[in-house]
Amino acid sequence: MLTWMDSLKGRSLMRLTSFTDEEMLNLVELAEQLKARRKAGVRGDLLHRKNIALIFEKSSTRTRNSSIIAARDEGGGAEYLTRPDIHFGKKESVKDTARVLGRIYDGILFRGFAQKTCEELAEYSGVPVWNGLTDDYHPTQIFADLLTVKETFGTLENCTIAYVGDGRNNVANSLMMGCAKAGIRYVCCTPKKLWPDEEKLAEAEAVARKNGVDIRIFDDPVKGVKGANVLYTDVWVSMGEESKTAERIALLRPYQINMELMRATGNLEGRLMFLHCLPAFHDFNTEATYKTGALEVTDDVFESKYSKVFDESENRMHTIKALFVSALCDREGV
Ligand code: CP
Ligand code: NVA
Repeated sequence: MLTWMDSLKGRSLMRLTSFTDEEMLNLVELAEQLKARRKAGVRGDLLHRKNIALIFEKSSTRTRNSSIIAARDEGGGAEYLTRPDIHFGKKESVKDTARVLGRIYDGILFRGFAQKTCEELAEYSGVPVWNGLTDDYHPTQIFADLLTVKETFGTLENCTIAYVGDGRNNVANSLMMGCAKAGIRYVCCTPKKLWPDEEKLAEAEAVARKNGVDIRIFDDPVKGVKGANVLYTDVWVSMGEESKTAERIALLRPYQINMELMRATGNLEGRLMFLHCLPAFHDFNTEATYKTGALEVTDDVFESKYSKVFDESENRMHTIKALFVSALCDREGV
């Protein structure tokens, strides 16, 4: 039997604090159940006649395809809309587009630049709106990360996640809060210039304290990762920040995740995994890595037994499905 909290019905997700800690963990549990159900060959109809608009201002492989298949698996539909396709923000304001799409669709997933755009869509559409990544946050990514940790270690308890890289990007911001909410110790290894925003850090620290864990920031990655169970990284240059490429590479080269850093956890023989939201630069096969010669993770770590990045990426689909089902399904206890 699938179960989810009634309180999630009709809810938007702007950032992880849109949900209570319990709601967030409940959603991860629902995703676990939906994953098992799909593996058993069941394609249900929990989203029968539900239509979801996917407004994307930035590129995506995982979020886009996860959303489409999540809806389709359960009898619903998703329409992919990019800026050049619709009048959004050009001939028509975000507010008007929100009011139009809200009358046609049952929900909207937005990926783009400004967090404010996502919030405006939620304010005026009258349907649930989910943040599929903005410059500030990437909340749906964290559901998949938590599910991956839970299924690999069997629990979220007694876990330390060390994020190594750009400490103030969307993934890092959401991961910091996700750890705090889940009672996971969060360590951020990042140069001073890229330390988390003070306000976001203070907000996450308050939640972490409530849940009996702490957040620590280190300049020195070798010191920071000691005792960590998860090493996590992301690209050094996020979408929209391409002009900062040279500066970032210079700043973040010492923060590459390689086998030496994995060893510095002291957990090579114990509980240890590598996570990355993907896409990742881990070899020299892409145009970008070829040009810059910069990798945030070495190939031997990416391809190692510690790497759970493809489980994590699969889990994007199961967790996004959980988000859609809990917000839109008309039935209870199926
Ligand atoms: N991790 C993630 O959001 O991937 P995409 O950019 O491919 O959606
Ligand atoms: N920080 C990255 C995440 C991609 C999923 C970006 O915003 O480009």
